[in-house]
Amino acid sequence: MEQFDQPIDRSGTSSVKWDMLKTVFGSEDLLPMWVADMDFKPPQAVLDKLETRLKLPPYGYTFVPDSTGKAVAKWMERKHGWMVKPNWIMYSTGVVPSISTAIRALSKPGDQVLTLTPVYTPFFQMIELNERELAVSLLLEENGRYEINWTDFEQKISNSTLFLLCSPHNPSGRVWSRHELERISELCRKHHVTLISDEIHSDLLYSHAEHVPAALAAKDQADHIVTLAAPSKTFNLAGLQASVIIAGSEEKREKIQAEQTKQGFFTLNTFGISAMEAAYEEGEEWLQSLMVYLEENLKLVREAVSQIPGLTLMEPDSTYLLWLDFRGTGKSDEEVQEALLKKAKLALEPGEKYGEGGQGHVRMNIACSRDLVKEGIKRLKIAFE
Ligand SMILES: Cc1ncc(COP(=O)(O)O)c(C=O)c1O
Repeated sequence: MEQFDQPIDRSGTSSVKWDMLKTVFGSEDLLPMWVADMDFKPPQAVLDKLETRLKLPPYGYTFVPDSTGKAVAKWMERKHGWMVKPNWIMYSTGVVPSISTAIRALSKPGDQVLTLTPVYTPFFQMIELNERELAVSLLLEENGRYEINWTDFEQKISNSTLFLLCSPHNPSGRVWSRHELERISELCRKHHVTLISDEIHSDLLYSHAEHVPAALAAKDQADHIVTLAAPSKTFNLAGLQASVIIAGSEEKREKIQAEQTKQGFFTLNTFGISAMEAAYEEGEEWLQSLMVYLEENLKLVREAVSQIPGLTLMEPDSTYLLWLDFRGTGKSDEEVQEALLKKAKLALEPGEKYGEGGQGHVRMNIACSRDLVKEGIKRLKIAFE
């Protein structure tokens, strides 16, 4: 666990999380617990592989070798029990670009794209910037968990071309059950809707949780599902820009590839390929230690939040992003941001960014050393005191 306790000075590395505080929050002297990356080094095997590749210049055009696809498929099988055929796998520089590509490839301008809110902000942006009609179904809160409003969902899915699912769910960390995913998949099938499942957080599971890939829940009826995944959240490699698009349907793959070709997409960054392969091949043990560490961080925040009147934590099944509900304090979103930034010097994501249902919440990133988590807790208490 020592590796995660080591403080890392990321300032001056053009880190979005650390070096863009002034641009995003208007002040530099904040503790950054906002954007979703971790203050941890990736697994040593990834660093070794990158070093080996670095020593093999030049860095000309590099195709993604079969060994990378095999590493992806082996990971999906080992980690999630999902048998992915190598020819189902396509590559992309990121999951957000993949969302945009899939929207363009599998729908037309003006078509309705449905998602569940609150949700990761770029979902809205990619739908709207591609001139599709955004439709949202508000998640219901029951016993401290988000639940799908099935009546509303079915009514809206029947008018949609695509459904964009965040699985596990950012910002709440909710893992969707096999039963829920079966039901979503069946409804999408019934209404001829393509399900785009963003599973970027699916490897970051707490000990009680199991993630079921949407395509696996659909059993052998998964031709209407496109899955987006990446090693970037799991192993802290977002800056290397390597992700995958997995589609069992040949027709959908052809459409996605045609759209990628139109955008000039040809291959991944040389180092992204090396890092992805090493992470999926050799990162499992590191990931297990990471989750033990994060679970302990979660415990500390849970205890602290339970002592702050009016503040509650939505218990996550996965990922290092905590969804905190401050509606019980009676404070407005503006008042809370003001207190966080001016009084407590703490940068958290404002819940309003996540669309309808996000108001009255903030999102806190706990993927940092225990010392920083403790400092974050101290500041959280100051903000809400
Ligand atoms: C649900 C979700 N999808 C996609 C991304 C970003 O993916 P990428 O950096 O590969 O574009 C994030 C990052 O926070 C995310 O939470």
